[in-house]
Amino acid sequence: MRELARAITEHGRRYHELDDPVISDAEYDVLVEELQTLERAYPEWAEPDSPTGKVGGQPSATLGTVVFEQPVLSLTNAHSRADVEDFWRRVESASSEPPAMVAELKIDGVSIVVNYRRGSLWRAATRGDGLVGENVTANVLRIDAIPSQLAAAVDVEVRGEVYLPRSRFEQLNRERIAQNLAPFANPRNAAAGSLRQLDPEVTKSRQVSAFFYEIRSGMTEDVREHHVALIQMAEWGLPVEPHWQLCRSVDELGEYVEKWRDRRDSLDFDTDGLVFKVAQVGLQRRLGATKKSPRWAIAYKFPPEEALTVVRAIRLTVGRTGVLTPTAELDPVRLAGTQVQRASLHNADIVQELDVRVGDSVYVRKAGEIIPEVVRVELELRPPGTVRFEYPDRCPVCGGTVLRLQGEKAYRCVAGMGCPAQRRESILHFASRAAMDIEGLGERTVDLLLEQGLVETVADLYRLDQEKLRSLPRFADLSAQNLLRAIASSKTRPLSRLVHGLGIRLVGEKVATVLASHFKELDALMGASREALEAIEEIGPGIAQAVTAFFGQPSSVAVIEDLRRLGLNFTETPAGEGGSAFSGEVVVLTGTLANLTRTEAEALVVSEGGRVASSVSSQTTILVTGERPGSKLSKARQLGIHIMNAEEFLQRAGRTGSAGVSASQPGDQAAMKGESRH
Ligand code: IVH
Repeated sequence: MRELARAITEHGRRYHELDDPVISDAEYDVLVEELQTLERAYPEWAEPDSPTGKVGGQPSATLGTVVFEQPVLSLTNAHSRADVEDFWRRVESASSEPPAMVAELKIDGVSIVVNYRRGSLWRAATRGDGLVGENVTANVLRIDAIPSQLAAAVDVEVRGEVYLPRSRFEQLNRERIAQNLAPFANPRNAAAGSLRQLDPEVTKSRQVSAFFYEIRSGMTEDVREHHVALIQMAEWGLPVEPHWQLCRSVDELGEYVEKWRDRRDSLDFDTDGLVFKVAQVGLQRRLGATKKSPRWAIAYKFPPEEALTVVRAIRLTVGRTGVLTPTAELDPVRLAGTQVQRASLHNADIVQELDVRVGDSVYVRKAGEIIPEVVRVELELRPPGTVRFEYPDRCPVCGGTVLRLQGEKAYRCVAGMGCPAQRRESILHFASRAAMDIEGLGERTVDLLLEQGLVETVADLYRLDQEKLRSLPRFADLSAQNLLRAIASSKTRPLSRLVHGLGIRLVGEKVATVLASHFKELDALMGASREALEAIEEIGPGIAQAVTAFFGQPSSVAVIEDLRRLGLNFTETPAGEGGSAFSGEVVVLTGTLANLTRTEAEALVVSEGGRVASSVSSQTTILVTGERPGSKLSKARQLGIHIMNAEEFLQRAGRTGSAGVSASQPGDQAAMKGESRH
């Protein structure tokens, strides 16, 4: 139960706070429901702060917060007709009159609460954890679909959903790919990311839209039914989804489900279900709410949709650890609003079990919105002459040996970093948000760097410079500068992130944190015996074995030594917290620095605990000037900012001599000059 709770909290955080889920909504719901079942069976073991009792994620610290007067609730889910019938019966038994329900589409977006005073929008917030939300007023004011002025001078609090129309989502992703930016996983994440911007102009440019579905306060006594509130909101000028329907029996709710099961594909927004709400406001009040959700409403989730199509090929992709993952390439088919051409076959056992063959007709399903999967083969449609899929004994990428280790589901290419696919995936993993967090180093850029032979190991990233990047096709100067800056600033990440980024088998974010906080220094971790590792409470024999095996490999040690020479932080406290040379300083660079490229200088500031800014402002504390300094110098003088030349800069950084040589780290010279590896 504790493990489930931890997993749910983490997936919830990824979804609500990072807008970067790694599992589908359906998979998340399964986890939550499993924990709920266990908590019902073993209430004495339910943790008081269990995620089943919480709504959504923590509000982010950067936007201001809003404390709600009444909690912003979520909804209980129903998955079947029986669940809906149960709900109807519960409502019926609490009421003396026959219930009526308003059925609505459930918009898959981000919940917002908006306040109007005398008809003017004065505050808007995301739901946050249901008690405290993020203040997104400035952003909401830039959303064309949400009026800043209502048609009546009312004091009201309304709730709705901000979403990104599907058509706009596809357009936005095309634009992002063209600009070398990671595309959004789905419209919901795009909407969430767009709403939680620090710059309202970005929100505006994304062209999100909204629908409102609840008057939370300020409803007049004459509004006695929910649908009257919907009409009221529409009259005020708020966008209201028009396909709601008043239903007077379970059968009518069933008809609504049938109607929208297929039709929802034709809408320009994602729906992840339907919502049924008791129509009578009086009855709603009598039914009340639990800590998490009202007893007068329920969300009906559609079962995952399936489509039939033909397998054209079974492709194996090689992951970071060499695992060969099978994917079916399909005849394009429409599924839950998008075109699907590929579906996961998960692993060798599943391919075996399903007996999927090239040429087969298969059902594919979107379990959530992320990757569709093959559910089963339609054997009646199997053409003659198909053959059973066999795993190759050679890696499809590098030709290395493929083995299935005892007790493992997976086939692996054992070439390790000798395999280009494993190199690519390890670099992507190293740069990922949860590891070294190198912004802008996504798949496209890594592919370009690998194709041009500019990087082989993660250490090569720290040897890139403007000149090398200039040779990349379709790579603008500005993106090069930003990338170099992001790489340089990753040097100071704490040890836990580096350990995670190294991609040791069984060592994810959590274990990396445990190891880093225990050993404090990479050298101590590298030297730890299996016994020492197993002595740590959270570390079992499997992880201990994987860690010692990793550090016992000469190729891992070579990369680590290389990273050390390049000046990466190997301790758990980020460099800079320990009073390094530029700790707490905001440094701007101008002009050409003698013996030092701009990137090297920036890396030096960052590795010494400082921050680099691109323009002089009141925040700037140091301006480093080179030859032909430009207008930044005069501005810095006006603001009375400390100005130093290249020599003073190197001295302060503890790099005496002309070429930025560190007294304590002789290897830096090569690193800082961007020379090739030893
Ligand atoms: S009613 C107390 N109506 O779905 C009122 N919610 O899974 C509760 N949602 O948190 C919300 N469309 O963000 C309601 N027509 C609709 C909705 C809707 C989408 C979202 C909402 C809620 C979530 C629950």
